[in-house]
Amino acid sequence: MANTAELLSLAGQYMLKNYKQPALVMTRGEGCYLWDTEGRRYLDLYAGIAVCALGHAHPALVKAVSEQVARLGHIANYYYNDRQIELSAELCRRSGYDRAFLCNSGTEANEAAIKLARRYHFTRGDKDRAQLVATWNSFHGRSMGSLALTGQAKYWEGFGHMLPGVSHVPYGDLEAMRRRVNDRTAAVFIEPVQGEGGVLPAPDGYLEGLRALCDERGALLVVDEIQTGIGRTGRFLATQHHGIQPDITTIAKGTAGGVPIGALLTREHVGDALPPGTHGSTFGGNPLAAAAALAVLHTLDAEGLLDHTTRMGEHLVAGLQALSKKHPHAAVGGRGRGLLAGLILADGVDPRGVLTQLRERGVLVSQAGERVVRFAPPLIVTAAELDEGLAALDAVLADPPRVSST
Ligand SMILES: Cc1ncc(COP(=O)(O)O)c(C=O)c1O
Repeated sequence: MANTAELLSLAGQYMLKNYKQPALVMTRGEGCYLWDTEGRRYLDLYAGIAVCALGHAHPALVKAVSEQVARLGHIANYYYNDRQIELSAELCRRSGYDRAFLCNSGTEANEAAIKLARRYHFTRGDKDRAQLVATWNSFHGRSMGSLALTGQAKYWEGFGHMLPGVSHVPYGDLEAMRRRVNDRTAAVFIEPVQGEGGVLPAPDGYLEGLRALCDERGALLVVDEIQTGIGRTGRFLATQHHGIQPDITTIAKGTAGGVPIGALLTREHVGDALPPGTHGSTFGGNPLAAAAALAVLHTLDAEGLLDHTTRMGEHLVAGLQALSKKHPHAAVGGRGRGLLAGLILADGVDPRGVLTQLRERGVLVSQAGERVVRFAPPLIVTAAELDEGLAALDAVLADPPRVSST
């Protein structure tokens, strides 16, 4: 294998420069730890952005993927495959839906949701109902449709006209939604916890209010659980904390523990709006990704990971709140749901600097929003591992990096 310097040189020469990546190269993972080419070990408390639900190289995932690729890796959707059928049934059973569409990423799941929502009204003769309402600070993906839903103008710059018929209102403001949703609204798109926007859980009653509003006005409610789904908040879907059933739920990230996958879940009468020929995906529902997802779902049960996530999430948020009390000049609070948690930095503290210093101490996390340090560890994380991360954070917050005033 090439050494670190050679690899970095090749990266500089051949990779598109669309990511800001520090000069280190990861090569191996096990449980909640990663190793780079220099043999340095890191505690992974972001899990590939809420993806590696079972951590790295979990034996159940390794076994499922190895056996599946040896048996049948891909056939496309000209034929059923056993794994896609089993996975669709499992996802529907756990979420209370009737139909699943399998794809390869969160963005694709949301694109499918945009098409389904519009075509649902079209097939009912309501051709003018094509508008979509989302929220400011949301994140729904970066393809042209999902990007238009993403309520952060910084991501739109330079990409020309956004998809027409999309508008945004402030997150958590039910009255603003009431003023916006009307008989031209095809769907409301919402995250149960704004993830990329800063780990902001929906205020009490908000999702329930949106459900009632959509029913009243005839719009579909689409809940984007790409970050929150598959147990991350301690329930299989975050909406299950609220007792509501959206018309469409999209999932991705943690679903197959790191193998690319996305899915749209819906009710029978809504799903009927995408008959043969209207939508599809070459890779979507391939047996390899489906086998990986089945292994994740079975392991959630076998290891009791939903309850574990709730307990570990409480431990983590309590730890973040204690640190913000201890270092009020550096942090002003902690919040989250399950193992999706954030530490809110005080004004003037440099979030990228905090991430860098944590990395230098061997702990990996990510930034969300302008000033939130986001934790989305593997759902198998232990209290001892969380404490190791909190101890590193404690040391960084004692003398936090400041945004330079020049
Ligand atoms: C809530 C939400 N929706 C959609 C996406 C896009 O998913 P992907 O990057 O898999 O396309 C993300 C990714 O961060 C997300 O957090």
